[in-house]
Amino acid sequence: MTIHHTKHQQAYVDNLNKALAGKPAWQGLTIEEVVKKVKDAPEVIRAAVRNNSGGVWNHDFFWSVMAKPGTTPKGELLEAIKASFGDEAGFQKAFVAAATGRFGSGWAWLVPGPAGKGKPLAIVTSQNQDNPLMEGGPRPVLGVDVWEHAYYLKYRNLRAKYLEAWFTVVNWDAVAANFAKK
Ligand SMILES: [Fe+2]
Repeated sequence: MTIHHTKHQQAYVDNLNKALAGKPAWQGLTIEEVVKKVKDAPEVIRAAVRNNSGGVWNHDFFWSVMAKPGTTPKGELLEAIKASFGDEAGFQKAFVAAATGRFGSGWAWLVPGPAGKGKPLAIVTSQNQDNPLMEGGPRPVLGVDVWEHAYYLKYRNLRAKYLEAWFTVVNWDAVAANFAKK
């Protein structure tokens, strides 16, 4: 995780700053504001802004939803998990299936469900460093990095093993706070 943070995420920070150098309209925005307007970026830098702002936001978010083992889903969040997936085990199974099923590099997200569709939570995945905010979608409440750089050093090709271990360090208090803000 240290290499992940200091090398991989740092590269996205550096490359985003390079892409936005000399673009006053993009300076002073939060990373979330940049991510939400990647489609407005000039074409010549659009791909760089998309990939690198996603790389920064996604990893910031990823760190924020992890903590020492010991937290559990409670209250409104737990009720939403039960209503959407049956129980916690059902959620974990569905989330791991989506995350292992994401072909190539990408992310799996738990997001507030589409309004009016009956389920308070849904699982989506995105490729590369994309995320739901770029498409005008909901702000995720939980997300996991399934790029090989996230697990290959320790888990080799075993993405599911990494996900199983990762679930022990999910910061459910942070997820609940994200869900409360939805
Ligand atoms: Fe990563």
